[in-house]
Amino acid sequence: MNLIKKMLAAQAAVLALWAVSAQAATNDEIAERIKPVGEVCIQGEECKGVGAVAAAASGGGAKSPDDVIAAHCGACHSAGVLGAPKIGDAADWKKRASEQGGLDGLLAKAISGINAMPPKGTCATCSDDELKGAIKKMSGL
Ligand code: HEC
Repeated sequence: MNLIKKMLAAQAAVLALWAVSAQAATNDEIAERIKPVGEVCIQGEECKGVGAVAAAASGGGAKSPDDVIAAHCGACHSAGVLGAPKIGDAADWKKRASEQGGLDGLLAKAISGINAMPPKGTCATCSDDELKGAIKKMSGL
């Protein structure tokens, strides 16, 4: 009985945490977090700055992995915010890849989102290939 109560309490705590982080991803807090990278990109809005310049330079084609990471993923994955696997931390990425069944498994999680990781890592306009390129670059896989 006691054990069940404890488990329920733990579940409630996880849910509360998730609710807070989900909310954080939808308000200005995310913009605040992205700022240090030098750019403010919000889901559903056009990204100005690095990405736009690069898109213009490449004739508006696909976003390069560096563009996607600079504009979106780096905000959390550079410093490991909220437990995000750090860019270049091969061991962490490798472990995750083996848990998800490789690069495509990681891509699926990046698209759907996982825990504090928002769907598509906030890059709503990223194609699957663009996300995959960013994951490849960050993980070194
Ligand atoms: C708001 C912060 C945030 C942003 C922005 C973000 N991530 Fe993440 N990401 C996380 C966190 C936190 C985790 C760890 C989730 C967990 O395992 O609980 C994670 C994990 C991942 C994983 C591993 C998933 C797994 O199954 O272990 C991949 C792949 C990933 N992110 C890709 C990306 C890509 C690509 C971008 C940019 C397009 C991005 N992320 C942007 C926070 C973020």
